[in-house]
Amino acid sequence: MVISLSTIYDIAKRAGVSPATVSRALNNLTSVKEETRKKIHKIAKEMNYSPNFLARSLVKKQTNTIALIISDITNPFFTTMARGVEDAASQKGFNTIFCNTDENIEKEKQYVDLMLQRRVDGIIIASCGSGNNLVEIKNRNLPLVLVDRAFPGNNGWDSVVGDSEEGAYFLTKHLIEVHHHQKIAIISGPPVLSTSQDRVRGYLRALRDYQIKENPEWIILGEFKENFGYQLALKFLHSFGDKPTAIFAGNNFIAIGIIRAVREMGLDIPDNLALVTFDDLEMASYICPFLTVAKQPAYTMGRVATEFLLQRIFGEKIKEKRIVVLKPEIIIRKSCGCIQ
Ligand code: RIB
Repeated sequence: MVISLSTIYDIAKRAGVSPATVSRALNNLTSVKEETRKKIHKIAKEMNYSPNFLARSLVKKQTNTIALIISDITNPFFTTMARGVEDAASQKGFNTIFCNTDENIEKEKQYVDLMLQRRVDGIIIASCGSGNNLVEIKNRNLPLVLVDRAFPGNNGWDSVVGDSEEGAYFLTKHLIEVHHHQKIAIISGPPVLSTSQDRVRGYLRALRDYQIKENPEWIILGEFKENFGYQLALKFLHSFGDKPTAIFAGNNFIAIGIIRAVREMGLDIPDNLALVTFDDLEMASYICPFLTVAKQPAYTMGRVATEFLLQRIFGEKIKEKRIVVLKPEIIIRKSCGCIQ
């Protein structure tokens, strides 16, 4: 059975108007008389018309679609950010394609190439690399906004990030000043990422401000993953030498791994090991407020990045690149040693 796909031309013929009038009526433009608009919508429905998205985007040279490329779609930080992106995009009639790279540079490259092939109108990316995958985007002058992670100089792109250095400083300072910890370790994410680097910088600045000598063996960068935190915590807890009495986890998943290791050993947080981290586990915190955390405004990060991107897509004349650094909210709970 062949199902003929009606087109704008078929509708125009039956309605006795031009295809351009049909297009304006179906896009609900005010330049069409109400009576004609209603007649065209009625005929389109009778003919089971559905717009040819590809044809329309070729004509308009715009797909009304943006891409958000993030590194861990299971992390509430990124899903909250994605919500901010999608809300801002849909309010302007844009669709959003979500791409998850798993902090894998090859996967990121594949997604960037795919989004270019899909002719998205712009890309928002929390890159898992150092920007090498974004050269073609630059060459094509496609609008792009960096979110959460940035590069030195940002290659001229707008960026919207969290203040990882400041958040890390306050979390470490809290452990030192309020709970008198002197032996604090940091376990954070991939060393290539600005968020990992900035968290170490904030941690070291706090140690220096309190004349605490850093122990290089207690500064570990690797993965923003639960198992990474778990393995490192076990290593610290099993070591015969000097042990940290507090750990600054670079993100929520590392913190969960540390908690798993501590509890597996029959120990307790914060009595045996104090813990602070980045990125709240909001739902869990409603049920069991436990983690002391630097909570990044992920939703706002997503919204602002999308607004910047859409301004570039609409061709607004914005000469300078914009750099927005959003402060995290420090939420003090039990894991650092503060009694709720
Ligand atoms: O995995 C999530 C972490 O990586 C967050 O802390 C976010 O800042 C990102 O860099």
